[in-house]
Amino acid sequence: MKKLTILLILAVTLLAVASVYAGDKEAAKDGDHAAQMEKMAKMSGKDIYKNMCKSCHGEDSDAGEYTPMSLIMDQWDDFFADTYFEAHKDVVCPKDDSKKVTDIFTKEMLKKVQKFCVDHAADSEQPMTCG
Ligand code: HEC
Repeated sequence: MKKLTILLILAVTLLAVASVYAGDKEAAKDGDHAAQMEKMAKMSGKDIYKNMCKSCHGEDSDAGEYTPMSLIMDQWDDFFADTYFEAHKDVVCPKDDSKKVTDIFTKEMLKKVQKFCVDHAADSEQPMTCG
């Protein structure tokens, strides 16, 4: 009987330690994520495009290669008003498969990317491929 009690205490202790450890890991992950989101929110339109859109729309990409000068200004405005949501609502984020592309970009981020794309569209004064 004594042995069983000791075993039980041991098991409970182990469980408690394990759950604290798991909680810590979860918190660290959340912190990383929040810090990352904050960093992304501060990026310029160009950096957001380069770091995030381009990872799926670079050269030879399955999703199609897109740079600001792939479209004209009106097409970018239409895209951000409408097509963006349609095209990306089922596309999974490569870094976190529990999220869709449309969960990642905030309104503010999209506004900046839109401005960058329009400013450097094919019919703009400074067409650009974005490196
Ligand atoms: C995780 C990958 C991923 C990311 C990130 C991503 N896209 Fe896409 N995008 C896709 C896929 C996949 C499609 C094709 C959807 C389809 O075929 O219906 C697409 C479609 C498009 C299209 C074509 C839409 C159409 O049907 O005319 C444009 C333009 C585009 N994306 C621009 C962007 C821009 C700008 C960003 C950044 C704000 C971005 N994408 C971020 C994967 C991505």
